[in-house]
Amino acid sequence: MLRFDGDVVVVTGGANGLGRAYALEFARRGAAVLVNDVGSAHSDLAVEPAAAQRVADEIIAAGGVAAANDLSVTSFEGGQAIVADALDRWGRIDVLIHSAGVMRDRTLARLDPSELHAVLDVHLSGGFHVGQPAFRAMKEQPTGGRIVMTSSTSGFFGVFGQAAYAAAKGALAGMTRVIALEGARYSIRANALVPVATTRLSPDRDPLSPRPPEDVAQFVVALCHRDCAATGMVFAAGGGWAGRMGVAVGQGFAQPGAAAEDVAANWDRVTALDFDEMADGFAIGPFIDAQLSDSTIAPDV
Ligand SMILES: NC(=O)c1ccc[n+]([C@@H]2O[C@H](COP(=O)([O-])OP(=O)(O)OC[C@H]3O[C@@H](n4cnc5c(N)ncnc54)[C@H](O)[C@@H]3O)[C@@H](O)[C@H]2O)c1
Repeated sequence: MLRFDGDVVVVTGGANGLGRAYALEFARRGAAVLVNDVGSAHSDLAVEPAAAQRVADEIIAAGGVAAANDLSVTSFEGGQAIVADALDRWGRIDVLIHSAGVMRDRTLARLDPSELHAVLDVHLSGGFHVGQPAFRAMKEQPTGGRIVMTSSTSGFFGVFGQAAYAAAKGALAGMTRVIALEGARYSIRANALVPVATTRLSPDRDPLSPRPPEDVAQFVVALCHRDCAATGMVFAAGGGWAGRMGVAVGQGFAQPGAAAEDVAANWDRVTALDFDEMADGFAIGPFIDAQLSDSTIAPDV
């Protein structure tokens, strides 16, 4: 059994759906869990004041160790206070899972800036608000830590009506890659998760094949165990299936000083994407590869 005895786990959005499943499973495996949740419905129509406490009580009733925190991840101070809460109670943080989420589906033509920001605030800014203090605390621990940021298929492939959500989720995956790069020398591992589960945020489309959040929780437990070395990756998981997602850049067309006409004449080569190139899931081609290793920023900046 993969155990988490002595580990401290913080789960944002831990009162419902996936977050609740993670909180219960980590606690069952010996971790002390801080269940964070503002208790908002994803539509903001209903608010459940003691939502986080409900799940913490469930864990404690089952013999586990847990505490509730009802602050919002949308403010910098809130994110800091959530992590500080775990540190004050248990003195460390080993795993952070950012699962808080809201939805405001709207086509781009109708999207109101307030809706855009409501979504970005929870998913993307929220990831930074809790991610930074967690990173800072993990950096001081010889054992480092593990961070999971919740992304979505929408962030990679796009879903009609989800410009805001896709932007937030795609950006969060990008930020996670950077956390992994910057955390490597402190044994901090960061991965993005693309879950598929039946929850109130993502109701069942096919009643014949329900996808319990508990299945995703099993994957997340394996990913967050101290013996799992994965970092900087994107994983999709749901319904008992899990797999790695990648980004591909084709070989493309290269000609120094190419004019627009040259590009147009070689459009087939520019757009070609050969999956044989995707040996390790991140077939990025020589041009992008050189760009990535070109960072001039000193590690301590
Ligand atoms: N269910 C899926 O299939 C699926 C697919 C892709 C991504 N996701 C993502 O997974 C995460 C969990 O989603 P879920 O399906 O369990 O939804 P859910 O609605 O069941 O749970 C989300 C929780 O986040 C909480 N929350 C909202 N705003 C918050 C805030 N500001 N601070 C703290 N907590 C807040 C809500 O109160 C809720 O309890 C979300 O980030 C979601 O976007 C889910």
